Amino acid sequence: MDLFESLEELRVTALDELKETEDTSALEAWHSQYLGRKGEVTLQTRSIGKLPREDRPTFGKRVNAIKEELAAVYEDRVQSVRHAELARELEKSAIDVTLPGRPAHTGHLHLTTQTLREIYDIFAKMGFEVYEAPDVELENYNFDLLNIPPYHPARDMWDTFWVDDARLLRTHTSPGQIRVMRERYPAPIRVILPGKCYRYEQITARSEHQFYQVEGLAVGKNITMTDLIGTLAQFTKMFYGPGHKMRVRSSYFPFTEPSIEVDMDCILCGGEGCRVCKHTGWLEIAGAGMVHPVVLENGGYDPDEWSGFAFGPGVERPAMMKYAIDDIRLFYGNDLRFLQQF
Ligand code: PHE
Repeated sequence: MDLFESLEELRVTALDELKETEDTSALEAWHSQYLGRKGEVTLQTRSIGKLPREDRPTFGKRVNAIKEELAAVYEDRVQSVRHAELARELEKSAIDVTLPGRPAHTGHLHLTTQTLREIYDIFAKMGFEVYEAPDVELENYNFDLLNIPPYHPARDMWDTFWVDDARLLRTHTSPGQIRVMRERYPAPIRVILPGKCYRYEQITARSEHQFYQVEGLAVGKNITMTDLIGTLAQFTKMFYGPGHKMRVRSSYFPFTEPSIEVDMDCILCGGEGCRVCKHTGWLEIAGAGMVHPVVLENGGYDPDEWSGFAFGPGVERPAMMKYAIDDIRLFYGNDLRFLQQF
């Protein structure tokens, strides 16, 4: 085979191989094999000396033409291989924007908060505003001004968390009554005072050392016990739904006179009698009464002119009734299996 023929053959082989290259490294290998400094096409010029003198210019021109042709085809190939590589890369890391999103894991309100808000809504419909009083309270407000004498057993260290000599974690929300009255006098009052209360006591299925109450207070002219009972009956109906019975019994609190205890029929046994209602068919839901004249006076209201009612239901116990929860300790035990049910 003469040199011209093998040169043409080399061109065809190089072009065929170039078509086979699929990635950058194959392209680089091809380039150094044919067009590199010691590439097969580059080295063709060395064969010129072996040719008869008259053929040399033709051969030289042909070699250069092939070099240029191969270089141009090579550049095209580089472009399309890079393009294909990029396309493969994109496909691998592709984001399908049509996929539905993964929902973020969100929590929800605690059962106590849900219950509190439900209670706020019900009383808001009856015209009560929410008034917030402090958790750390003066002894004076928690006891004395509410007509609770110094010898009252509730002051015992067994019942109370003292912060220092004169301050304590409030044992009930009633001290807020004095705060609202002193702030609002001489306007009529219709507020609820929700908040946490603290008692130094044995934790059982029925009692926690901290729990919520929602105090209610109405002060005005000609307010009577009927208003109190009507308000509580309306609340019970709206909170537990229709078809439940409520009753009141006479009771005693130093800061109300007369005082009552509010019961409703036990939701757990439907009034038949069970362990939770101690087989009476009734459950205590709140203490209440007409604001004691001494308390009205301590709040700045003249008891000859003004009268009022107050009530103080818990929050966890009504929720226990409503959702048939038989242990108050579950509320603050932080067990998600419990919390997620509500
Ligand atoms: N403060 C009382 C308690 O904690 C409840 C109560 C509130 C009673 C208002 C009467 C009036 O037991």
